[in-house]
Parts: sequence; structure tokens; C-alpha cells
Amino acid sequence: MMAPFRHCVLIALTTTLLISSITAENVEEIRKKCQSVEGLKSCGLCVKQHPDCVWCSDTDLKVPRCDHKTAFERTCPSAAANAGASALNIPTQHNFPLDFIHPQSNLKVQIEPQQAFLKLKPGDVLRVEFTYKHLKPAVEVRDFSIQTSDVQSIGLGVKFEIDCKGKTVVGNICHGIKEGDIIKFYANVTLNECKAGGSLAASIGVYGYNMVSALYVTPLCACECEKVQNQRRNDYACNAAGTLVCGQCSCEKGFGGRKCECDLAKYGVSSPEELDNKCKTSPDQVPCNGKGTCECGKCKCNANYKGFQIQGKYCECDSTACPKDTSGRLCSGRGVCDCGQCKCEDGFTGPECGCSSDEAPCRENGKICSDNGKCACGKCACKDGFTGAFCSVAQDSDAKAGQSLNEAEFAEHDDEILPAKVDEEADKPAEKDDDSSSESVEDIEIPPTTADGEAAEEGTAEAATDGAASNSMQTLLSLLVGLLAAKVVLLVL
Ligand SMILES: *[C@@H]1O[C@H](CO)[C@@H](O)[C@H](O)[C@H]1NC(C)=O
Repeated sequence: MMAPFRHCVLIALTTTLLISSITAENVEEIRKKCQSVEGLKSCGLCVKQHPDCVWCSDTDLKVPRCDHKTAFERTCPSAAANAGASALNIPTQHNFPLDFIHPQSNLKVQIEPQQAFLKLKPGDVLRVEFTYKHLKPAVEVRDFSIQTSDVQSIGLGVKFEIDCKGKTVVGNICHGIKEGDIIKFYANVTLNECKAGGSLAASIGVYGYNMVSALYVTPLCACECEKVQNQRRNDYACNAAGTLVCGQCSCEKGFGGRKCECDLAKYGVSSPEELDNKCKTSPDQVPCNGKGTCECGKCKCNANYKGFQIQGKYCECDSTACPKDTSGRLCSGRGVCDCGQCKCEDGFTGPECGCSSDEAPCRENGKICSDNGKCACGKCACKDGFTGAFCSVAQDSDAKAGQSLNEAEFAEHDDEILPAKVDEEADKPAEKDDDSSSESVEDIEIPPTTADGEAAEEGTAEAATDGAASNSMQTLLSLLVGLLAAKVVLLVL
């Protein structure tokens, strides 16, 4: 009986996730394209990755030069942003309104505009609106039919939509028109490929009518700043050892680095690429994970990235990715986070600096854990074959003997201030509740036998609690989503 409802919840859940991930991923996915190795090579290659990829020509830029246009809003001066955004321009001086007598042809204008100028990036769509007035033609024409020059062979795509007697028709024909009818139609123009050469021209006309409208398309396939006349040879920004192209230095032989400041021989490499590769985890990655600058083969991570510090040889770590204590404090507030590892203050140890490094509680008769174990977190972690609070009890291979000995050990120390719960004899409850034992129970949930065992067992204990938490989260989530789904279903019905 519950099954169909559950199904519904599941579908609702996946749809919600899908929708949110599509919208959330879009910009991030585009950013990945912009910041691909290819996209970061040059301005021209950058703008080819995606219509929203922008190249920043600011010489002092500290972030990757190719990025989603929104990412540069604050980091790149707008004059340096080589957006090359698609744009439509219909200049009034070249266009006459309907019914106007065209000065050159002496004919009545029947189509408007007569000229449109488009700057178009591959992947973008520009929509040009046309108006056509049907006048009595020489030969009778009853269908409105749009004609174009060969656009495909020059790399353009044009798709039409016609407002045809109150309906939108996709395509180029509207049947049954009369004299005096005014028809609006739209051309969606795309640039399908970047070909060598300059501007493209296409003409759009209507069957039975001689005058055409012209579309002039400037493909935005490269950057203006890449043109030879815009390059700056031996620019000071490139330490006079390279050419500045779109804010980026192209270094002379023997030099490398962002500003050609690195003498390649000094760094034991033979090409600028090799030098850059020293800042990458692998050659197909961007230098310094895109979170720092590569300075002669060494990453200098950005001081602040989205609110936290960037660290690591390749700027691969952030300062918040370290173990936390149960109240969420990074390194228990007793250390600094260094590339995923807590560097604890003196007196503290453990992955999240949660343990005191004071070994006094492990000392008995001047020995740490009777020399049969290690002191971990104020408790003895005994070697195989030893047990007891101070690892002073040799474990017999016979389990029964071992047990009785352990019991003896416990009895012996019962009156001392000692962590009570230390070995496998956990069925003997630790009733003592003074400060040291209550703290100890919190610190070590499962008594370790060896140092290795400790790590493994702590891991499982943590995983178990995590699992429980996420389970209850899931239940809560599916309940919420279930409620939403029920609403949606009701609305749909
Ligand atoms: C033309 O572009 C508009 C938006 O720019 C879009 O809504 C429409 O579906 C497109 N039409 C065709 C035929 O591609």
C-alpha cells in the first residue's frame, strides 16, 4: 500500500535533485570548460570553449585568465575583459521603414530592416526580428515563403519563426496571405563554425519579391588583442624577454614564467611548459589548481579563496579541511590546519589534537605502560600479548587464565584514580565516575589493543555514528520531500 507513494517520493526526490544540480552545475561546468588546459592557452582558444568564457587581458591578474563571465565581474577590469560578446546592431541610417520609397531602387520598402550587423560567437543565438508587408506582386503569390542565400556553406545557421495569422510557425512558410498583410518573422542566427577569413554575409528575402535584407556577420572566433598589431614585443611587463599578447607573456627562448622572469636553465627545464608543469599535479591540470600563481615552477597560493586559506604544494588544500572535534572546532581549537593535517599545539596530539600528550596517566613504577605498549591519549595501548591498564599483565594463551588475571588486575587498581575500562573485559562495568574516568570514556570508546587496532576501531566507531546520523537525516529529508511531493501531486491532479 505504501509502495506507490514511496515511488512518488523517490521520483520527486530525484527530480528535485536533478533540477537543482542542473542549475547549480551549469556555471561550474562552464567554468571547467573555460579553465581547461586548452582554454587557458590563449584568448582565441578561451572564447571558443563556451560563449560565456571570457579572457582577461589584465597583466596583473592573479586568477586564471579564462573564466565564466560572471567570475570576472570583480577580478578583471572591464576594459581588460575580452568578452567578445555577441551583439546585434540595426543602424537606423541604413534602414528605411515600410512603405518608404527606397532612394536607390525607387521601390517601396516591403521588408524591414534591410541591413543588420551581427557579432556572433560560436554557440550564441542572435534573434533578428523582421517585418514584411505584402504588396501586390507582378505574379500572384499566395504563400509567404522566406528565401535565403546559402548560409550553411559559410558556417551560419538560420532558423525562422513566423507569426502566421495568430500562430507561431517554425519554418519558412505561411500559407494564404493577402495584399496588405503585415507579417512578422524572426531569424535565429547561429555561428556553427569558425572559418578563416573575415565577415560573412547572408541575404534574406521573400519569394516573389526582389529586394532582400542583408545580414552581415562578424564571427567572434579570435580576440582583437591577438592581432599582430596589438601584440607588444619585448614589453616591460614581460621583463623585456617576451611579447605581451592579450595580457599574457609569450617568452623568448630560454625564458619562462608568467612574466618571462624565469631563466629556464636555472630551474633545470627546457621549455616554459615544463616549468609550468612543476606547478601541476599532472600536465592536464591547470597550474596550482587554479587557486594560485605559478612562480618559476613553484605555486604561490592565493591568500584567500572564498573565505579560507589555500595551502599545499599545488594549492590543493584549504585551511578548513582538517579533522574537527565533536563541537565542530577545527583541530579541537588546539592546533592549526596544515593541508589536511592538524599541527597541534604543545601538549596535544591526535588527528584532531583531541588528546593530551601528557604521558603521566600511563606511567606506573616509572615506566610508560610497563614498556609493553604505547601511551595514546592518556591510555595505554598494549602490544599483543599484554593487557591491563598499564599493560603489565601478560595474556595467557588460555583465555580463562587470562580472564582471571585481568580480573585480578582490575581489583588491584580499583581504588586508584585510573581509567577503569581498558581491555576486552568490557562486561565488567566501570562504575567509577570521577573526572578522569568520565573523560576517558569519552575519549576512547573502544579500548584498543595495539596502536593499529586503535586507529581501525576508532574509525569504525566514527563511521557507525556518522551512518546513524545520515540515516536519520535521510529519513527527515524523505519525509520533507514526501510532503512536497504530495502537494505537487495534488496540484497536478
Ligand atoms: C529562436 O530563439 C528563441 C530565443 O532566442 C527561442 O525561444 C526560439 O525557440 C528559437 N526558435 C527556433 C526555431 O530555433
